[in-house]
Amino acid sequence: MQILTDPRTLQQTCLRWRADGQHTVLVPTMGYYHSGHESLISYARSVGDKVVVSLFVNPTQFGPGEDLAAYPRDLERDAALAEANGADILFTPQPADMFPAGHATWIEVPSLAGTLCGVSRPTHFRGVCTVVMKLFQLAMPRTAVFGQKDWQQLAIIRRMARDLNVPVDVVGRPIVREQDGLAMSSRNIYLSTEERAQAPNIHHGLALGRALVQGGERDAAAVAEGMRRYWRENLPLAQEDYISIVHPETLEPLARITDAALCAVAFRLGKARLIDNMLLAGE
Ligand code: PAF
Repeated sequence: MQILTDPRTLQQTCLRWRADGQHTVLVPTMGYYHSGHESLISYARSVGDKVVVSLFVNPTQFGPGEDLAAYPRDLERDAALAEANGADILFTPQPADMFPAGHATWIEVPSLAGTLCGVSRPTHFRGVCTVVMKLFQLAMPRTAVFGQKDWQQLAIIRRMARDLNVPVDVVGRPIVREQDGLAMSSRNIYLSTEERAQAPNIHHGLALGRALVQGGERDAAAVAEGMRRYWRENLPLAQEDYISIVHPETLEPLARITDAALCAVAFRLGKARLIDNMLLAGE
């Protein structure tokens, strides 16, 4: 595995691969790998000829007062895991390589970015879209792989790629969970012992919502209220950021649950802001 820091070197390598007809798969990450990241990289290995993993803690997707400086980093361990899971290139640019002075171009998908996480993080998805589009231009992948834990991010990137005719297949891969159900996240290390003990109940509350729907409840407000009641009792250390039942593609709020419905949630638990989601209906 090669470690590259220079965007132009990455682009030249990937241009050569493309000219040779190689299928490049890109896995964009911010590092501090857990089994969720490993599953994305090994999936990329299984479908592509060449695997590029980017590791970049993108400053433009953090708002003022968010955890940019504290975001966990461990390049040596990440490089070993990326290699063990089959990466050909680990791309680790510096912020000034990706956003040199004078950078002035931004990509936004306001209709999907103004809801859910976008309400409390109004500039987050602009930063995500812009960096992901830059990575697409550098690595020129035929496939790009993202985790479904950030469902909204995945929906936005899919829409961006479609709207801008980017020739990339955006693939979402299932959430990887700890044995007790907590969705894996680099930010789980912020949790205290007590908070960590309650955190799996985020997932259990979502499963309760799904069971309510499977039991015949179709009123989204009633399902949300059932989950909220569960979380009030079983997640008392957390503050709700949002609990929303939406259409999985358009992210529009649903009043009735019919063929496709996603429940997406965000909670603040101590220093961590944790997100999770589950399809309540549809696949
Ligand atoms: O999901 C992430 O880790 C980041 O938002 C991404 C896609 C790597 C862009 O910085």
